[in-house]
Amino acid sequence: MLSLNSVITTRMGGASLWRIGVSKPSLTAVIMAAGKSTRMKSRLPKPLHPLCGKPLLSYLLDACKSAGVSRIIVVVGHEAERVQEAFHGQCEFALQEEQLGTGHAVMSARQLLDGYEGDLLVLPGDTPLIDGDTLCKLVEHHRKSGALATLLSAILPHDAGMYGRVLRDPGGKVLGVVEAKDATPEQLAVREINTSIYCFKSPALFDALQEVRPNNAQGEYYLTDVIALLTQQGQSVEAVVADDWQVTLGVNTRVELADVASRLRRRILEKLMLSGVTIVDPANTYIDADVQIGQDTTVHPNTYILGNTAIGEECEIGPMARIENSQIGNRTIVLASQVVECRLGDGVRVGPFANLRPGTVVGNGTKIGDFVEVKNAVIEENVSMAHLTYVGDAHVGANTNIGAGTITCNYDGKRKHRTIIGKGCFIGSHATLIAPVEIGDGAYVAAASPINENVPPDSLAIARCRQVVKEEWAKRRREQSSSEG
Ligand code: UD1
Ligand code: MG
Repeated sequence: MLSLNSVITTRMGGASLWRIGVSKPSLTAVIMAAGKSTRMKSRLPKPLHPLCGKPLLSYLLDACKSAGVSRIIVVVGHEAERVQEAFHGQCEFALQEEQLGTGHAVMSARQLLDGYEGDLLVLPGDTPLIDGDTLCKLVEHHRKSGALATLLSAILPHDAGMYGRVLRDPGGKVLGVVEAKDATPEQLAVREINTSIYCFKSPALFDALQEVRPNNAQGEYYLTDVIALLTQQGQSVEAVVADDWQVTLGVNTRVELADVASRLRRRILEKLMLSGVTIVDPANTYIDADVQIGQDTTVHPNTYILGNTAIGEECEIGPMARIENSQIGNRTIVLASQVVECRLGDGVRVGPFANLRPGTVVGNGTKIGDFVEVKNAVIEENVSMAHLTYVGDAHVGANTNIGAGTITCNYDGKRKHRTIIGKGCFIGSHATLIAPVEIGDGAYVAAASPINENVPPDSLAIARCRQVVKEEWAKRRREQSSSEG
């Protein structure tokens, strides 16, 4: 029987501790994603631009979650409905009806944070490489120093371009941030940039934001102005320099999107390599963020592994494979082929030049060779389908051999029909299986037969004209034409 003490200890584990008085410091994040993304020159809003298989904004949500943020508010405005639809259920939304600047964006979340007293992480929606560790360091420093505002800065190894510059006094104390468009040549020479990622105390941030005016080159309410305002008020403002400047890079143009994508790809590939996957040529391999690959699998060059794909151990993928949203077992080979929304078992061999379309399920040990297309079909174990075949809307039983050139005619011009082929069948080359049709277990279909009636188990179906041989016919024809000529 449990004693009262042990019941209490059990209940005190994990989060329930906080409910009995040991207060957990709360951490809320506001992500600004309402901007017009003018520099992207796109109909697609910037938060939804795909980056290694996921929308750009999702990386910010992931980083916040891994830093222990308990509440995430995304400020939406430009194309708000599309962004809300894409992230429905993953965060809260605040609406910024007019895009009047980053300061105004944060102000739009004020109502949702009414009564909130705690630390507030503020992030832009366009720095997808930011990670949980960097955010944790920022928050830790903010809490230790007791500052009202702490900004994350970075020192770039190259020209700081259009980033806001962090201004400090000779003693290193933060004075403010100046936007590139408003900066003097001396200020532009500063290498320490504002990442637009901050930790503030709430509600002090909102009090300061009320004082911000749009007196700048862009006529916007800059969030950055809060830093100078607070220092002028004698409040404590801190800056933490990111250990790795790359995690702070912003995406404002498609050139920056490609740059960030290549850094993210490298990060994904390195993680896989360190977990035991061989990537023969990382410069020519494209693997999305959520892909999982097992130990001792080799990925050869010019290969794309995309979306929600999981690949087992000891597989050989590529060269020239494109695999999307698929599950693949162990010791399977996919050579120069496309596999989309499929499930492949263990020891399957695919390609070269096969096209496995959505809804294909392939059993262990099956071989699908060159110029074979499969769609919405279950192919059981140890089937051989080695060349030039189309199998659509079908079920193929285990140990069946499908001869070269076999076609399932699944479409009658109006509707799709199914072909069922049993276990241990032998379908001769160039058979035409006109669906709906069923070939029983162990049956044979003679080569070049158009089959439109069911074939019972263990029988042979032949459906072709008998061959006629006219002896000497060719010789006579040649003689006739030479006598005429
Ligand atoms: C901003 C910073 C700059 C910093 C850089 C880092 C300001 C004024 N500038 O510049 O100091 O170096 O980020 O990447 O803050 N947004 C809204 N509503 C608006 C305007 C913008 O939600 O009215 C959002 C955008 O969607 C974007 C983010 O705020 O996600 C930052 O806006 P952006 O225009 O990209 O600012 P930057 O020029 O990059
Ligand atoms: Mg930006």
